Amino acid sequence: MIDALPPQGVPADQVLAELRGMRAADLPTHGGRLFAYVYDPAKAGLDELAMSAYALSAHVNGLDPTAFPSLLATENALVAAAARVLGAGPGTTAPDVVGSVTSGGTESLILAVKTARDAHPEIAAPRLVIPSTAHAAFAKAAHYLGVALDLVPVDPETFTPDPAAVAAAITADTVLVACSAPSYAQGVVDPVEQIAAIALERGVRCHVDACFGGWALPFLRRVGVAVPAFDFSLPGVTSMSVDLHKYAYTPKGVSVLLHRDAGLRRPQYFAFADWPGYTMVNPVISSTRSGGPIAAAFATLRHVGDEGYLELARQTRDAVAGLAKAVAEVDGLRLLAPADFTVVCLTSDDPGLDLFVLADELSARGWHTQPQLPYQGIPASIHLTVTASVLPQVPQFGPALAESAAAARAHGPVELPAELLAMAAHLPPDQLTPEMVAGLAETFGLTGGEPGAAPRLAVVNAVLAAAPPRLRERLLVEFVSLLQRPSW
Ligand SMILES: Cc1ncc(COP(=O)(O)O)c(C=O)c1O
Repeated sequence: MIDALPPQGVPADQVLAELRGMRAADLPTHGGRLFAYVYDPAKAGLDELAMSAYALSAHVNGLDPTAFPSLLATENALVAAAARVLGAGPGTTAPDVVGSVTSGGTESLILAVKTARDAHPEIAAPRLVIPSTAHAAFAKAAHYLGVALDLVPVDPETFTPDPAAVAAAITADTVLVACSAPSYAQGVVDPVEQIAAIALERGVRCHVDACFGGWALPFLRRVGVAVPAFDFSLPGVTSMSVDLHKYAYTPKGVSVLLHRDAGLRRPQYFAFADWPGYTMVNPVISSTRSGGPIAAAFATLRHVGDEGYLELARQTRDAVAGLAKAVAEVDGLRLLAPADFTVVCLTSDDPGLDLFVLADELSARGWHTQPQLPYQGIPASIHLTVTASVLPQVPQFGPALAESAAAARAHGPVELPAELLAMAAHLPPDQLTPEMVAGLAETFGLTGGEPGAAPRLAVVNAVLAAAPPRLRERLLVEFVSLLQRPSW
């Protein structure tokens, strides 16, 4: 075990070598073969620039915008850039747009919901309307903020909600309607134009979650991709979020939350003067926050520039087309949703070709995808978030996919023992004990294995797939709790 607090300090070189050793067991953040978690533009020199900028401002504190004007200036510049990309700012129909930089998509969404909730103190039991494909962070926001969640089901073919169903879900207690541009799981854009018009007519705020692909869509449109209207050009859209640490390719820790005007943003702030220390006034959830991510994002945007993002969009568009073609060429696989933007989402109609086994086979060959569990009539799928760095990998992906599919067929689908299947399907979540999960984790080789050895996860995914959502949550909470133990 590595001791984070040794009796005597360890030389810098050695500490870095230790960290590098540990990092070697991680999935590869660069190279275009990891299709989730990371966004890689494969642009020479960009990492070095971002890290230098990060280091320059790592100790700057966003707690007080007057103490560190560099942070305020760079934050305001990022907000202006995001607004411009999303159809707002001078010369548009949303000239008074304002915003804040947050630590990520989840924080932006929590704040969008908080702002909408606090704009209506007279509503005792506020509600939030979202399509069932909206990001889980909305559920987290609702849970944290005591807002009830109204999920509108989506069409199992298009993965988007019927606007009439969204309209029907709005009540006098609804403080916010939200939709995605695009959604994470299938990468589709909701009918934002219709939903925003309904919200406007009903006098309800409408948030467009463009955290995931919102930075990519406008550039994709400019390189010829048909992108429906989804931004501030639609009058009903009152707020938007876009993560710079996704398709703006900045280091992690930067999202922008925009509001159509300062009045709409006001309830986002938290101020407190009723204590003997400094009066706290925070636009976001954290109080102290590092200037590092903001400086790195500023450097990234300025260095890549508008032309650079257009080129990255071209590369992403071509990579998506190449991967989608590779999927269509493998017998038994098909796209679950059209690969119109930045996601390739595939499924299998062939019972002999188990997607979870396929994901393991891909992983064993160095291609790391994200299996998605079946949910409310939507079949299991494999998700690929595609970034610019994938393009040079496309010629190798087709053969790897075909080979992995053949291996998955030869392996055969996962067959769970009947008692495990029955447990997954019927165990009341509150009867799941930490000991049961520890036993399962050991049986499946998820604990105590060699670091870096990719565990075969198909059996785990099959158990999760057989379990209803509440039990999936409990299983994973217990599992993660098992992992999060101090290393004595
Ligand atoms: C559509 C969408 N919204 C919100 C989020 C949450 O972002 P973060 O992981 O930065 O909190 C994501 C993350 O993938 C997303 O895809």
